[in-house]
Amino acid sequence: MLASIKSNHLQSESKKLGMMYFRVAIVLFGAQLLMGLIAAIQFIMPGFLFEIFDFSVARMVHINALVVWMLYAMLGAVYYMIPDETGMETVGVGLGKLAFWVLTVAVTIVVLVYIFVQVGSGSESTIWLINEGREYLEAPRWADIGIVVVVLVFYWNVFTTFMKGQKTGIMTVMVANLMALAGLYLAGMFYTDNISMDQFWWWWVIHLWVEATWEVFVGTLAAYALIKIINAKREIVEMWLWIEVLMLFGSGILGLGHHYFWIGTPEYWWEIGALFSALEPVPLVAMFVHVLYDWGKEQGIAEQEGHKNVMRNGPAMAWIVANAFGNFLGAGVWGFFHTLPQVNIYTHGTQFTAAHGHLAFFGAYATILIGMMYLGLQGAYGIKTLKATFKSKMGIVLIISGVLGMTVALTIAGYEQVLVERAELGAGWNAFFAAQELPWYVQAQTWRAIMGVVTFVGFIYLVWDLLTIGKQARLAQQAEA
Ligand code: HEM
Ligand code: HEM
Ligand SMILES: [Fe+2]
Repeated sequence: MLASIKSNHLQSESKKLGMMYFRVAIVLFGAQLLMGLIAAIQFIMPGFLFEIFDFSVARMVHINALVVWMLYAMLGAVYYMIPDETGMETVGVGLGKLAFWVLTVAVTIVVLVYIFVQVGSGSESTIWLINEGREYLEAPRWADIGIVVVVLVFYWNVFTTFMKGQKTGIMTVMVANLMALAGLYLAGMFYTDNISMDQFWWWWVIHLWVEATWEVFVGTLAAYALIKIINAKREIVEMWLWIEVLMLFGSGILGLGHHYFWIGTPEYWWEIGALFSALEPVPLVAMFVHVLYDWGKEQGIAEQEGHKNVMRNGPAMAWIVANAFGNFLGAGVWGFFHTLPQVNIYTHGTQFTAAHGHLAFFGAYATILIGMMYLGLQGAYGIKTLKATFKSKMGIVLIISGVLGMTVALTIAGYEQVLVERAELGAGWNAFFAAQELPWYVQAQTWRAIMGVVTFVGFIYLVWDLLTIGKQARLAQQAEA
């Protein structure tokens, strides 16, 4: 990918900016995986890097890097698709580039501070300078405010371009959804001394991101990508998109209740959470059907007309199909498993949650964002048809096997915790530790670490492929011509 800076085929500055975001995203993804590996080893060898690189820090950087790389890839995807969807160059793209650098410097400083200041007491000044202490959104306050400014610049660019350019259904949903997505971030900036109230608002960001606004976001990406890759009919993908928007917001907003079972909120949240979160898998099935339906339909049309089916980007399409399956499995199935309060009272806070967290974030978001990177590369190198290489295949197979393997291992660990710690020993402090010393748990954690290594090897293939596939495909294309 780096090589593409020099030999960029993209005429659009907005697309170039999109590629800049993609590059940082992939670096942060790598950092995320390394931190995950350290934390996974610490599960089996608790003394590993103790007081040098503590579990609390490795875990924190792991999940914050996750959120940040995904946001980078999302910004990248938006800047990349704007010129295609609106028919014009992004307004204020110069300012957008400045914002990119400001954000990247801020992220670097925040991570360095996490690493250098690992322990110490919390105070008003540590909230401002070091760490806010809110899982997934730990950035200190100064960075919080900086992020709001950068996002305002971004939103202004998207909005003004949308208003001036052509208004497709995809862009309309994108613009409205981005406002909700960005606005929700503010809910994670309130301060109260009451931990229940703090958690109440914090969930607005985390849950309403991943189960509402981010889902709608990937719906728009899938719609755009399917048009680009397989020539899907715009009317069809946009119809699906509107249905998904309706269903996602319909179930996702009150589905929030499944995080309000045990944090001190009123008991009526049990019924609300149970009902609406149980409905959440429905739109995920719709998204799944959407991708496969469009693909099947395009194939049918191609056969009837007697020409070959259009497939302009093999690796991107593979990742998008993985997204359809992964979103349904990780969020829908693994989410549904523990979403009823009757079940959640046993599974809450066990490794079962981590199993769901991994498969859902990976399946619903990592997959399609990687797909968008391949789409970006195709544009950057001016490739007509991008075919999967051996490295693309190794990347996708190893990463998917690794994450599925980790999910199964964590599900087994969680199952053991439910049976031993919760049902049999009564969920006390001693029970918590007793359950973690039994062989089922220890073996499951060992398998998780092994499957983590498989994932990481897959990631190396992925990066290697992203760095080389464009040039290779262009040489092949030139040889043909
Ligand atoms: C792509 C969408 C989703 C993502 C990325 C996601 C991710 C996560 C993550 C990371 C957690 C752990 C949060 C923590 O640290 O406490 C979590 C918790 C939870 N998720 Fe999801 N989730 C998604 C969709 C769903 C859906 C559709 C359902 C229900 C059908 C669901 C049900 C739950 C429940 C019940 C919990 C609470 C677990 C506990 O008791 O601690 N999730 N989710
Ligand atoms: C090299 C591969 C990976 C390893 C070894 C790994 C390991 C870990 C470990 C040890 C934790 C802490 C769990 C705990 O506190 O009980 C964790 C948390 C988490 N990881 Fe990973 N991880 C890897 C890849 C990923 C990927 C690819 C994703 C998503 C795209 C991801 C998403 C998460 C999330 C959301 C959490 C928080 C879960 C929760 O609190 O329920 N990880 N990971
Ligand atoms: Fe949720």
